[in-house]
Amino acid sequence: MHFFEILWAEASRSFTPLVLFLACIAFLLAKWVAIDKPRFKAMFFFIAAHLIGLVATAGFASVGSDASELLRTPTWILGAASLVGASATLLFAVILPRMRLHTPPIVQDVVVAIAMVGSTLGVLSRAGVNLSGLIATSAVFTAMLGFSLQDVIGNIAGGLALQVDNSIETGDWIKVGDVTGRVVEIRWRHTSVETRNWETVLIPNTVMTKSNVTILGRRRGQPTQLRRFIYFNVDWRFQPGDVVNVVQNAVRGAQLANVAREPQPNVVLLEMGESYGKYAVRYWLTDIAVDNATDSSVSACVYFALQRADMTLAMPAHAVFVTQETTDRKVIKTEKQVMRRRQLLSSLELFNGLSDAERTELARTMKYAPFARGEVMTRQGAEAHWLYLMEDGKAVVRVSDGLNDREVAQLEGPCFFGEMSLLTGEPRSATVVADSEVECFRLDKAAVQQIIDARPQLAEQLAKLLADRRVALQSAKENLTADAARERAAREANALLTRIRSFFALS
Ligand code: CMP
Repeated sequence: MHFFEILWAEASRSFTPLVLFLACIAFLLAKWVAIDKPRFKAMFFFIAAHLIGLVATAGFASVGSDASELLRTPTWILGAASLVGASATLLFAVILPRMRLHTPPIVQDVVVAIAMVGSTLGVLSRAGVNLSGLIATSAVFTAMLGFSLQDVIGNIAGGLALQVDNSIETGDWIKVGDVTGRVVEIRWRHTSVETRNWETVLIPNTVMTKSNVTILGRRRGQPTQLRRFIYFNVDWRFQPGDVVNVVQNAVRGAQLANVAREPQPNVVLLEMGESYGKYAVRYWLTDIAVDNATDSSVSACVYFALQRADMTLAMPAHAVFVTQETTDRKVIKTEKQVMRRRQLLSSLELFNGLSDAERTELARTMKYAPFARGEVMTRQGAEAHWLYLMEDGKAVVRVSDGLNDREVAQLEGPCFFGEMSLLTGEPRSATVVADSEVECFRLDKAAVQQIIDARPQLAEQLAKLLADRRVALQSAKENLTADAARERAAREANALLTRIRSFFALS
């Protein structure tokens, strides 16, 4: 018979046209779908080997050589392997994903391996090989192999179990023994975990299935978030209820990245020590990767809230203080603080009209009120008690119309804010949020009243400044043109002056 006729006959018997057809489809689709590259390459290797086998078988048969009989079965086996490879590529890369069925890589590998073994046995049986003898021998062989490869097989079974029951998925944060990290891959033998220290730990799958694995931040039906504790100690001079309120309000009010809004952070008194109470802020961390950075911003918030409330963090009871607090030393300390405040007052244009003595007087009434980044210093709509004098740091002014929140100005120390409502008695017109750590002092209404009483002409300066800021806020809400804003500012300044005068009972 002619070579090509034999070749065609051999190809038809081993499903070569079907294999080539499926492989062509897979090849064409490879650009658009995520195809498993190693399996794709293996498929082409099998097809190439099968085609070579076919040509060789047909060649030997056409010259009447017995070698064709020897080559036929391996060629068929390669053809069957190619068919399994092409079908698996189409099934797992195209058909199942379109049906939104996700099959883990390990499951795909197992299905392909079983199909390969099955198709090889089918081919051998078709070629007349006695399978019962083969199966008996291979069972003994498999048992021996299984015994010697117990660990490897255990790992594989573990990996399979992890993938199939979906108990752990890539991207989960887990804790196994002393390893904490994010799962990046579940392989045949091990699970790769990337730690926060930039390490990758390969945990054998048998360990994963035999030990307690904690999945961090996962709770059924809830977003991923992990509860964190920030501990701090405060002296018994301060009532626990007050400490809890001061810190809890500060942490809840702050706009801190990666701190969950729900559940809200809370503060608890954990332990009653000899000289101080041990407290903890408990908050829920939304991005487990940035635990220390978020703890740090919450801690800063606690520190500043306590500072503003004049509540100092407690030192351990056994600390020995060697500095003797003499009367002189106290005076020096106070003088230094007054100097610092006077310098701030001098740097603010608003207080230019005051004499040195008036400034010193005012400096004594100023209250130190530092803020951590993200803390809300004044809240839109709230009642006003203070005028804020910012010594150093940055803040943003935001205004909300109930739906949207817009930034209208940025403040940088030295500057002041909070005058609008303090001077008119209206609710706060905007929310001011610290954009860095802010060194700040506060003046209460009585102190402001004192300055205005002493210098009534200050009311005019304040009315002008207030009008400018107020119109800037209105422009942000109403998109005013520059001319319209100027005109409105002039009108507002007059109206405000009247309001300030009546609020502070000036003639
Ligand atoms: P008050 O309304 O008391 O509280 C919010 C404060 O934000 C407000 O006083 C001003 O001090 C400040 N503020 C509002 N709008 C502006 C603005 N456009 N530029 C600078 N500061 C502003």
